[in-house]
Amino acid sequence: MVDGFGLMSVMAAPEERFPYINEVDINGKKLLIRADLNVPYDDNQNITDDTRIRGILPTVNYALDEGASVILCSHMGRPKGEAVPRLSLEPVARRMSRLLKKDVLMAPDCIGPEVKKMVDQMKPGDILLLENLRFHPGEEMNDDDFAKELAELADIYVNDAFAVAHRAHASVVGVTKFAPVCVAGFLMKNELMYFHRAMENPARPLVAIIGGAKISSKISAIENLLGIADKIIIGGAMANTFLKAIYYDIGSKSLVEDELVERARSIMRKARRNGVKFYIPVDCVVADRFDPKAETKITTVQEVPEDWMITDIGPATSSLFAEALANAKTIIWNGPMGAFEIDAFSRGTSLMVNTIANTYSLTIVGGGDTDVAVHKAGESSRFTYISTGGGAFLKLLEGGTLPAIGALEEHARRKREEQESAT
Ligand code: 3PG
Ligand code: MG
Repeated sequence: MVDGFGLMSVMAAPEERFPYINEVDINGKKLLIRADLNVPYDDNQNITDDTRIRGILPTVNYALDEGASVILCSHMGRPKGEAVPRLSLEPVARRMSRLLKKDVLMAPDCIGPEVKKMVDQMKPGDILLLENLRFHPGEEMNDDDFAKELAELADIYVNDAFAVAHRAHASVVGVTKFAPVCVAGFLMKNELMYFHRAMENPARPLVAIIGGAKISSKISAIENLLGIADKIIIGGAMANTFLKAIYYDIGSKSLVEDELVERARSIMRKARRNGVKFYIPVDCVVADRFDPKAETKITTVQEVPEDWMITDIGPATSSLFAEALANAKTIIWNGPMGAFEIDAFSRGTSLMVNTIANTYSLTIVGGGDTDVAVHKAGESSRFTYISTGGGAFLKLLEGGTLPAIGALEEHARRKREEQESAT
C-alpha cells in the first residue's frame, strides 16, 4: 500500500509497508545509511548542537553489532552544488567518533573512484562518513546518474534521515531506484510512530500549538489541524495577523502578513464551525524596537502603542494557554511564542515549555526553533518526543506527503510485485 505519508508504514504489517533495518539480514553487508547530520556550526566550524548526530547512533550501533560495515552520508547546509570547505562534514566525523568511541573515517567526496576504493577496503564494523552530498548538483536535482553511483557503493540502502524526507533529492528518492534493498532506520521509525500516535486516533483533547514568525509558512498546517485538533493555540508573530483579522491595532512595527489577514479570518470562522477551540494572545510584550536593549512593556492586545512592536506573548496569555492545556491528553507543538532568541522576549516561550512539561499528556515537539527552546529550558527529558525535523515535521502537520517515504513505499511495492510474478 502506498500512502506517501509513512504513517501507515509504521503501523501496518511488514508485508504491507516498507521494511525497517531490523527486518533484513545485514550481517557482513555494506550499508549506505542516509542520515541528516546537518547540524549547526559556529564561525569556527564547532558543532553547537549535536542532537542529530546522537539521533542516528541507535541505527549505527545496531548495524555495527550485527556485523555490517557502515557508510554514512548526509548533506550540510546549502552549498548549491559546489564544494564549500566550511560546509565539510569532517567535524561531524570527529564528533561521531568521540560519541561511538570508535574511528570514523572521513571520505574526501561522496562518489568517485577514491571513495569507491575506500569502500572496497571496508570490513564489518568499519564506519566511513562520505563528504557533503550537496557538493554535487546531482543531489538536489535528484539526478539518476548521481543516485546510481551512491546506490552502487553498498548492498543495502538505509534511510534514517527524517529531517530531509520532505526533499525529493537523489540520496533520499533517486537512490531507491537503484539500490537492491531499501529499508528505513530506527530514527525514522520513531519519528513516524510518534507523529502517528499524536495525529491519528490520538488520546483527546488533542491540542496543537503553532507559533513562529511567519504565518505564511504554517497556514496550511493550521488549516489541516482544523480537521484534527480539539484546540489550536496560536503564538509568535504569526498571531499578529490573527489579531489584525479581528480588527485590533497591533502597532506599526509588528510583523504582519497583510495578504493573509482574510485567510486568517476564515480559519477562525472554520474553527468555530468545526467546534475547534481557537486561542490567540490576549496580552503581549511590546518593544520600541527589535533590540536586546529595547524599551519594553506589557500591554493588552487592545492597547498596543502605535509605534511599538509585539515581540512576545504576555503573562495573561501564558496563563490562558496554560489553562487551555491543563486537560490536554495529546499536545503537538511547533514554533516559539515570541522572538525568544532575545532574552527579553523569551519568557512566553520558556513558560510554554514549562507548562507543557507539567501536563500529563503525550507531548511532541518539532521544528528547528522549538526544540532549541526546549533544550534551552533544560526540559527535554520531560517531553515525550522531540522531532529532529523542521520542514519535514511541518509537512506532516500539513497532511502532506514526504517524498522520501513515498520512495521507500514505491520500492517495497516494486519488490513485492517482482516476487509475486516470480512465483
Ligand atoms: C533542515 O535542517 O531543515 C534539513 O536538514 C533540511 O535542510 P534544507 O532545508 O536545507 O533542505
Ligand atoms: Mg530547513
